[in-house]
Amino acid sequence: MRVISPPAERNKQPILEVLTTRLKPNQRVLELACGTLQHALHFTASLPNVCWQPTDLSTETVEAGQHLLASKTAKAPANLQAPIPLDVLSLPWVVPAFDSVYAANLLHISPIEVVSGVFVGASLGQAQSVYIYGPFLLQGQNTAQSNLDFDASLRGRNPVWGIRQLKFVEQQALAQGYTLTETVPMPVNNLLLEFTSG
Ligand SMILES: C[S@@+](CC[C@H](N)C(=O)[O-])C[C@H]1O[C@@H](n2cnc3c(N)ncnc32)[C@H](O)[C@@H]1O
Repeated sequence: MRVISPPAERNKQPILEVLTTRLKPNQRVLELACGTLQHALHFTASLPNVCWQPTDLSTETVEAGQHLLASKTAKAPANLQAPIPLDVLSLPWVVPAFDSVYAANLLHISPIEVVSGVFVGASLGQAQSVYIYGPFLLQGQNTAQSNLDFDASLRGRNPVWGIRQLKFVEQQALAQGYTLTETVPMPVNNLLLEFTSG
């Protein structure tokens, strides 16, 4: 049975609206932590010139995605590749060439080392841009109560999980030559971050 994530159903259109103005035709995007493929299916249907390669750490998730696309129930566009396994921490990533990296809701549901892993992997693959969606803590600003509660519940489920400080993410990016070029506020206190190399 196909698994549907309600948050992904709600946030896929707002994220698409931001990516549409930024992804260039013929760009090859490597998606990390693709989960249920809801983002990949939605984006590739609207961005037919963007080639999308989803990946995930979980073999079960990758196999479910492969079955979903093979079963045709999801009407996969031609520019959407079948998902392949990828652990962000297993560097360098063994994947087809890519121009951009996209990751949604990964950094708070994985160990903190994954933050630098994303940028090291992107840099080794010579990605020009990295897009990261999710909740972040902002230094010197009051964090929304919903994000504080979410952070506490994440840490309760797994002590190495937790919402990351935006400043920390920025530092890890800079160490690999990526500058935070845009911070787009998104619904429900999330952010879409754009990092650009050089
Ligand atoms: C909350 S889900 C997000 C799924 C999807 N991106 C979304 O926004 O709906 C987190 C995903 O991160 C993946 N993940 C966790 N650690 C990872 C790692 N080290 N490398 C790659 N993926 C990882 C999990 O397998 C899971 O599918």
